[in-house]
Amino acid sequence: MTRLRKYKLLSESERDREVRAQQVVEAGGWLQVFDGIGDLWLEVGTGKDTHLLERAKLYPDQFHVGIEHCRKKFESTLRKAEMLGCGENLRLLHADAFEAIDPLFADSSIDGAFILFPDPWPKTRHARRRLLQPTFLALLAQKLQPGATLEIRTDDPGYARQALAALAGVASLESMTGQLEWLDHPMDIDQHVETLFEKRFHSKCMPIHHFYLRKTSDVAIT
Ligand SMILES: C[S@@+](CC[C@H](N)C(=O)[O-])C[C@H]1O[C@@H](n2cnc3c(N)ncnc32)[C@H](O)[C@@H]1O
Repeated sequence: MTRLRKYKLLSESERDREVRAQQVVEAGGWLQVFDGIGDLWLEVGTGKDTHLLERAKLYPDQFHVGIEHCRKKFESTLRKAEMLGCGENLRLLHADAFEAIDPLFADSSIDGAFILFPDPWPKTRHARRRLLQPTFLALLAQKLQPGATLEIRTDDPGYARQALAALAGVASLESMTGQLEWLDHPMDIDQHVETLFEKRFHSKCMPIHHFYLRKTSDVAIT
């Protein structure tokens, strides 16, 4: 017997926050999509989390883009955005970040980015899917403007060590935490928006590794 998956269609207003790659290309960039001037923030791998949605509500003058490649999770986030009453400063893109970031974001165009609790993909045969690897981090750094920040959080100690090694190979990202490898607490608690996973980890007293990076100036000093 074939089991039919219950599939709830998105309402028109829920769909409004979805943006397609083609729309970004045709518009000529994200600021044209948002039809305004303001800082651009990106979260890669939003999952079903509300972090970016909450941030978009806290900072209505800033533009927020979330990328998620799992359609089911992506639609769940669209529904949550509607439930939370997120405004026009939030757009969600259903895409694979490995493919979407380069063509859809101009170099030095992003003011801040997040990679929060990325899948560690521990098996070697899945290693190419890891977001925290030098090639992907270098690409993201290329899209950040000088002075922009990249925040990474992971609960996985092994992935944190891998991230550290990967970040060491990206010269255009400097640590904002000095000599420390990572922080075991948020750098600025007032600015910190917890993810749903994070709340769960906290309640179980599990350690979280917080990385804060800044894009260095592209200007070569001679
Ligand atoms: C472990 S979940 C964390 C989700 C969310 N950031 C959180 O903290 O709850 C990682 C998410 O990243 C997404 N993801 C992994 N690789 C991706 C890629 N290449 N492009 C877009 N999304 C990706 C997965 O589908 C998954 O939803």
